[in-house]
Parts: sequence; structure tokens; C-alpha cells
Amino acid sequence: MRRSPVAVALGASEEQRNLYRDLFRQQGDRLWNADRDVDWSLGPKIPPEKREPWLKLVNVFYGLEYMGLETIQVMMSKATHQLRDPNLNLYLAAQCQDEARHAYVLDRYLETADGKGMLSGLESGLIDKFGTIASFGFFRVENWLTSTLFSENFAALFLQMSRGLPDIDPLAADIFRFILRDEVRHVNFLHTVLPGLIGNLSRIGRIYLWQSQLLLVSAVSVGLRRAKPHAVAIGIDIEEFKDTLTDNLDAQFRDAGIDEFLQAAAYRRVMDRFIPS
Ligand SMILES: [Fe+2]
Ligand SMILES: [Fe+2]
Repeated sequence: MRRSPVAVALGASEEQRNLYRDLFRQQGDRLWNADRDVDWSLGPKIPPEKREPWLKLVNVFYGLEYMGLETIQVMMSKATHQLRDPNLNLYLAAQCQDEARHAYVLDRYLETADGKGMLSGLESGLIDKFGTIASFGFFRVENWLTSTLFSENFAALFLQMSRGLPDIDPLAADIFRFILRDEVRHVNFLHTVLPGLIGNLSRIGRIYLWQSQLLLVSAVSVGLRRAKPHAVAIGIDIEEFKDTLTDNLDAQFRDAGIDEFLQAAAYRRVMDRFIPS
């Protein structure tokens, strides 16, 4: 690892630095405690016929959070050094703490519901692969942050749609409400950091990054196809999921001014190829 003084050479604009500090403060202001703030007395209350598919999906979600936690630990100092901004380290440490809390709270939930360890070796291997695609190779920092925009949106939509289910376990709904609060901030951070990063990429870099994103969306789609029967069993409509994810990504790429580079319609074509309706 490179030593920290490199990160102290300020490269970003004053405005950018303040945004990272604001996000850092927001995390502190809205911090929740997984043991004290979640109302564990609410459940778990899972309808018996939905128990298996529901817990299977929560296992997948837990696996993704854990993978995200490992990846941010590997990538945060690399991102700080590349962007030469110590405020970025402040913010990423806070986000890393969020991801640790997400992994912890889901682990405690699965333990409480007696539903731990329901992933097959293949499913665990697929989750590992997402982490590898998202953070290795060339342009690692750009690749990680761009992949995170996709995965945060994917996770947030799963949380939202699950919370909308009429017979959602009230304990899970409470936990998901807290996790969503953090994920919204994580997406805000990506809107702050990505336009500059992508704007500075060479043509070769852009081509590489775009190919890597399509590979990531393909791998996630293979995973989603495997999870589809469980999602359908608990009442999540996969077509609606794909439609909303595409719309959300499209709006966000536009909002962040990176829609010439990242195209939600191309993501959608990949998803449709792997998960036909
Ligand atoms: Fe998370
Ligand atoms: Fe996150």
C-alpha cells in the first residue's frame, strides 16, 4: 500500500472536497445501531409457504453485502490515492462502516430466522465473481465505482420491492428501511464522484470500462435468472424489476451527466438476453 502523504496532496476542487465532507457528516448524523434501533421484537414472521424462497433471497443479499464489504476494503485506499483527496478517505471509511453494519444486521436476521448457509457452492462462487469483475484488471477504481452504481441500484430496488410485499416479514421490513437509508447516500456519493472520473478517462479506458460493465451485468443476470423462481414465489415480478431498474439507471446516468457513456438500454438488452420474459 502507498503511504498516506500522497493522499494529502489535494487535487480535487474545493467544491468536490466539501461534497465528500458533507456526505461524511450526513453518515454520522443518520447513523443507526443494528442491535438497538432495529425492532427485533417484530419477528421474524414469515408465511410458512414463503419461508424457503424468502430466506434463500436474503442469503443472496447477505452474500452480496459481504462481497461489497470486502471490495470496499480493498478499493478505498486505491480510490483515495487516485483522486488525491483525503476527504474521500473520510467518506469511504464511513461507507465501509455502513456495509459492515449491513452484513452484520443481515447475519443476525438470518440467525434469528434460522436460515443461515442456504447458498449452494455455485451461488457463492457467482457472488465472488461479481466482486472480481467489479474491482480487478485495469482502471480498477473507475471500474469499481461504476460497478457500484449498478449494484447499489440493484440492491436498493430489491429492498424497495420486498418492502412493498403485502406479507413481508415486519422485522425484515424494518431492517430494509434502515439499509435503504444508507444506500441512498451511497448512490449520492457516486453521482458526485463518477462524472469527473469518467470525464478524465481515455478512449481506451472508456472502451475497457464499458466492456467490463457489460460483463458484470451479464454475470448478475445469470445470478438473477437462478434467483427468479424464489423471487416469483415471494411475489416479486421480474419484468417489473427489470423495467424499474432500467428506468432508475437511465435517470441516474442522465442526472450524473454520464449517459453518453453508460447506456441503460444496453444493460437492459443484456438482462433480456439472459432472463427472457
Ligand atoms: Fe450495503
Ligand atoms: Fe452500499
